[in-house]
Formats: sequence, C-alpha cells, structure tokens
Amino acid sequence: MSEYNPRAFAKIRKLFPHTCSEKKVVYLNSASFGPFSTPVKKALEENIDLRVMVTRDDSHDTFNVSEKLRSDYASLIGAKKKEVGLGLNTSFGLNIAAFGLPLKRGDEILVSDREFPAIVYTFKQAAKERGLTLKFVESSNSCFDIEKFEKAITSRTRLLAISWVQFFNGYRNDLKTLSEICKRHNMFFVVDGIQGMGTEPINVHRLGIDIFTSGCQKWMLSPQGCGFFYLADHIRDHLSHSWMSWLGCDWKMQFSDLFRYDNPLHDSARRFEMGYYVILNLLGMNASVEIFKELGIRNIKKHNTMLINELIGYLKQNSYYSITSSLTAKHRSSILTFTCNDIEELHRSLLKHGVVLVQREGSIRVSAHLFNNRSDILYLIDKLKLFASKK
Ligand SMILES: Cc1ncc(COP(=O)(O)O)c(C=O)c1O
Repeated sequence: MSEYNPRAFAKIRKLFPHTCSEKKVVYLNSASFGPFSTPVKKALEENIDLRVMVTRDDSHDTFNVSEKLRSDYASLIGAKKKEVGLGLNTSFGLNIAAFGLPLKRGDEILVSDREFPAIVYTFKQAAKERGLTLKFVESSNSCFDIEKFEKAITSRTRLLAISWVQFFNGYRNDLKTLSEICKRHNMFFVVDGIQGMGTEPINVHRLGIDIFTSGCQKWMLSPQGCGFFYLADHIRDHLSHSWMSWLGCDWKMQFSDLFRYDNPLHDSARRFEMGYYVILNLLGMNASVEIFKELGIRNIKKHNTMLINELIGYLKQNSYYSITSSLTAKHRSSILTFTCNDIEELHRSLLKHGVVLVQREGSIRVSAHLFNNRSDILYLIDKLKLFASKK
C-alpha cells in the first residue's frame, strides 16, 4: 500500500460534488450515512438507463460484480473470499449469528448496556425464541468495561456481540483483548463493524472474530441497503439457516435447467445470501470500494485522525466545550463528540451555517472522512468560536 499522500486525498475530494457546491456544505456526518461520489452516481444512473432501455440482459454482469465485491471486501478485512457474503445491512449478519449459531437453551449472550439497538433487538428476539438469556454488561463512563465483562461471564456464557466502534461517542473497542477473553471462555465473538469499516484497518483472522458484519451505507459511502458479512471458515458448517435462497446453492452458473433441485449449498458464506441481488446497490458499492482500494484504509485513518486532532486542539483550549469521546489512542476513531450548555442551539446554528452533523446522547457528533479536508474543520472551528463568543 502506498504512503499517505495528501494530494491523492485532494483529488478524491473532487469526486464529491457537495464539497464544491455553491451552497456551503461541510459534511461531517458519515457515521449516519455517507454521501455519494460522482462514480457512484454514474454507476447508478447507467444501470437505471439500462433498465429503462433494456438493450441487453445484464444478469451475468451482476454475478461478476458480486464476485468482485466478495473478493474486494475480503481483502479489506483480511479474510478469504469464501468467508464473505453480501447482505443488505449490518443486521443481516447479526441475524445469521443470532439465529444460526449453535446455542442451547439456557445459554447466555452478553451485550453492552450502551449498544446500538441493531445488536440488542436482534439478540433479544433470538433469546426469546431460542430460550437463551440476554445479559447486559454495565459500561463505565459510557464505554465498554472489560473488567465488568469478564466478571459477567459464567459457565453458561457462550457469546459476546459488540460494536467495533460505538455509534454515540466513537469509542473503539479493543477487539484483540475481547477476542482473547472469548477464546479463553469458549465463547463466540460477533462484531458489528459498521462504525469502523472504511476508516480503521482490520484483520478478522488475526483478531479471531467468528462473525463480522457491516452495512456499507455509512463510511463505505455506498447506497443504503447494502452490506456484507464475514463468517469464519470454521463457523460456516455449524450455522443453521433461518432462511434459504435458491442462490445459496451452487448452480455453477448453469441456469438452463431450473428444475434441478439437488444443487449443493455453496461451500462459502454465499450460502447465506438472500435471493437475487439489489443490483443498483451492488453497483454503487462497487464504484465506491475502488476509492478505498486507491487510498488505502491505513491512509484514510491517518487522514481522518489529522482532521480530528485539529478539532481536539481547539476544543481543549476553549473551556465552553468539553470533549465526551475517549482520547486514548487505542480507543479513538473517526468520530469525535463534544458537548456544551446549549447543545440544541449550537446544533441549529451549525446546521444554519451548512455544517451537517448530528446530536447523539447529549453530544455533538463529528465524523471526519476521506473527502473532508482541513478547511472543513477550520470552518467548523470558526463557527464554534463564534457561538462560544456569544455565551
Ligand atoms: C453500531 C451500529 N450498528 C448498526 C447500525 C445500523 O444497522 P443496519 O445497517 O442493520 O441498519 C448503526 C447505525 O445506523 C450503527 O451505528
């Protein structure tokens, strides 16, 4: 992977039309959803044109794109292509885990008490239907507490499901330590990766993750309604199916005899995919992933960290604001949150000035990404200064 090159980022920024629109927009909200780049827009428009004019049958293209995406995403997370399947969002892989992993009545599942609802509701329902017990690990200062986690493990505990990066404060969990604890206690380790995917390097093999799942609508800058999941090789054959699709079977691309009912399941994560693809989304995902391959995730992390550092520098020296994210290097991410007395008013004022971001759990959430640059952060700082000066 090439070195960090600011010029490469400046070039990519030009692919995001909002960065040069006449109306000032500083988009710092990729933790909610990512903006479309010109290549994504073009890929979607071309496919809509093809669907409208129907000049050819493009079903083979669809299979080719899906193959490429499994391969691209496998290399982004350090997995084998056969361990990656295409889903619709983060919940897709969480459901494979919650309803498919070999768990017995009375087994316990642990989740954080400050978790995004995608994990909680999926495992709550699975617990109800499968006779499992869902237990919450109490957080400390709104961050996952490893000591309390270890104390919560009993002889019946079989699974930890956790977000890689917490959505509301950007706290990046220490997946390595969590994985080691899970291994020691013979527990499955399931990771919701959506808030780290695309900004943090990861190697799911080295980390010993059993199931990793992520939507691509946020930091991966793809359309809403697409995602992928990783099922470690050693897990796949032990998972039961809550659903089964004809494309979960291996047709060897021979679709001339559709009355063949004895095709084997795919010997890959693909067996858990669901029917025909949302092709528009796959094409968007495909156009977008090229940006990540070009820049490299290590460089994206470096870029985003520099931007966030600039903001931290300002917030630290203005007593009106207080940072609510952890500043410990190993827990930092591309999300930074801070608060002040008049947060609602501040939020309204930032939006009025064209700074797009959200409030989460009493803090302003800033998500800095590859298309942002220093001038975006300086603009935000300028508006924060202005607001604080009136208080
Ligand atoms: C940590 C986390 N998990 C999951 C989701 C979304 O789940 P899904 O992609 O299934 O809609 C979000 C945000 O929307 C999130 O922040």
